Amino acid sequence: MIIGVDYYPEHWGKEFWIPDADLMRKTGVGIVRMAEFAWSRLSPKEGVYTFEWLDEIIGIFRERGIKVILGTPTNCPPRWFCEKYPDAIPVGRDARPNPIGIRGHRCYNHPDFLRHAGDMIERMTKRYAKEKTVVAWQIDNELEANFCFCKRCTEKYRAWLKEKYGDLESINKFYGNEVWSGEYSSWEQIDPPFGTYPAAWLNPAYMLDFNRFASDDMIQYVDFQAKIIRRNCPEAKITTNVWFCENMPDFYKTFAGLDFVSFDNYPPTKIPEDAGQFYSHAFHLDLMRGIKRQGFCVMEELSGEPGCWSPMGRMPYPGMISGYSLQAFAHGADAVVHFRWRTAVSGAEMYWHGLIDHSNVPGRRFKEFEELCRVARGLKDIAGTQILSEVAILYSADNEYAFKIQPQTNGMYYLGQIRLFYEALMKYGLNIDIIGEQEELSGYKLIVAPEMYVTDPEVVKKLYAFVKKGGTLVLTNRSGVKNKYNNCIMEPLPAPYRELVGCCVLEYDPVGYDHVAVRFADGSNYRAGQWCDILKPEGEETKVLACYNSEFYKGSAAITENKYGSGTAYYIGTVGEQEMYVHLLEKILQECGIAYIEGLPDHVEITTRTGKDITARFLFNNAGEVRQFILDGKEISLQPFEMRIERSDIK
Ligand code: GAL
Repeated sequence: MIIGVDYYPEHWGKEFWIPDADLMRKTGVGIVRMAEFAWSRLSPKEGVYTFEWLDEIIGIFRERGIKVILGTPTNCPPRWFCEKYPDAIPVGRDARPNPIGIRGHRCYNHPDFLRHAGDMIERMTKRYAKEKTVVAWQIDNELEANFCFCKRCTEKYRAWLKEKYGDLESINKFYGNEVWSGEYSSWEQIDPPFGTYPAAWLNPAYMLDFNRFASDDMIQYVDFQAKIIRRNCPEAKITTNVWFCENMPDFYKTFAGLDFVSFDNYPPTKIPEDAGQFYSHAFHLDLMRGIKRQGFCVMEELSGEPGCWSPMGRMPYPGMISGYSLQAFAHGADAVVHFRWRTAVSGAEMYWHGLIDHSNVPGRRFKEFEELCRVARGLKDIAGTQILSEVAILYSADNEYAFKIQPQTNGMYYLGQIRLFYEALMKYGLNIDIIGEQEELSGYKLIVAPEMYVTDPEVVKKLYAFVKKGGTLVLTNRSGVKNKYNNCIMEPLPAPYRELVGCCVLEYDPVGYDHVAVRFADGSNYRAGQWCDILKPEGEETKVLACYNSEFYKGSAAITENKYGSGTAYYIGTVGEQEMYVHLLEKILQECGIAYIEGLPDHVEITTRTGKDITARFLFNNAGEVRQFILDGKEISLQPFEMRIERSDIK
């Protein structure tokens, strides 16, 4: 298992390089990511190239046995470029060019940008093609879906629509443009969503398509870079680093043509009061592993107090830096690269702390990092092991967009819904896959599919087949609401899933922040909120598991269970407190025959990695206090953020 650091040699005088590299080697750093913002240092003037410094620092790492990931520096074109091609700066929703000097000031579609970026990548990849120290390439940095509103991108958007629909009549029909006189009579009338008013004021069909275009267009830019890298460095691995940003691309399509997933992981340094929040980093990590259903890399990992983009946050609690790195391994990462080796002394990010502070004296956090490197070196036998799971939660980029475009009710958001299930399942010490809705489902016993809002008929078919063959499915409110154009389906909800779940929605109540009571047949009571589907059981074998116990619909069904083929489909019409899911999922796990651990205290996570000859169980205390519990008859006590790894050989 590899621990690395993000390093910016261009920020430091050369006198730092050798001592830094020596200290990295001594500490056990295995890999360094560099150069993703260094374009002006690699080409200070048009036609002038200064790769020598990069050669030198790569050489320094080579001599010390430290591998290198090179970033293509295309995130930040140099000033000479911006001066010469001012219209290569992306245009914001306000129709104005974005400022230069922040970063990300490049339009993915500007021909001169692509020419210069292509030239830079061509030169870099050719130069380091034979350099064995360079093992991977990172494309650009934290790319977002293309929300550039310049003329060129607008044209591309129109072309994308033309390709998809062929003619304006189809667009008008599928978007329902007769509403508010929105019908297009020429392609030039189609613009991206200018203006800063809420997305919900615009036609949802148009907005969903725009998000899809923005994602596809970013992916085209990724593929443009990947092609050059692949041509010149056929053996190198290619990635790009993603995060949960405002304009998220479709992660599954983004990585389809790349070799591995990279993720920037910054768990909050303030210990959250809400117990559920503790599982959010684990959730993100599992989602990342699910993108390619293989090991991944954390390309940037928390190393110090966050700041800059917001006022500074709390310093990482003792154990956090090491604990969150090991947590990433426990959820399937194979490499964790810490952001950053040194804290910047200039530039806007000087308060986003790295491992070594401004004082230039390695302190408490650095010591912890040293210890982490030591522990990671001892995990050689875990490299190549996999996280096997009988449970998968489905995720869909379309649903993510559609919920952002039209928030359904106060407090409800798509990832939040998924996390409710994730957090409840984590309480049972299970490995959990989070996979794209397009993925193959065989091998799973239980599929949890929260809010299948935008309907893909192929996915519907697959879910029916999964249950028919004996699988267990959990569906929820806001499923089957929209067709693939993001318009409402004119059928009782959950429309295409009605037969599968054996019930339909008579009426719904978007209660938002209000609360209702839900009572299970076994007498247990829970608080629910956000949404209440009032259900009518319809199937011969539909059982009502819980009813509303307040409001005028008291006594109506809230949660049902239905036999379909050889399997079972559950429908949860409301959004409960976490304990409700914990309660319900225990019954479901038992019925599916999935082994689980009982009695784990809050914030304790257990995952398992399995290899040919070994299984390794990771016990992690994701809390700021000691946690004690009994596991397999043994008393376990974990310090705050402690990770314990238990191995057993497979005979
Ligand atoms: C990431 C980014 C890094 C750095 C870090 C801390 O989003 O990729 O370059 O900015 O956040 O803010």
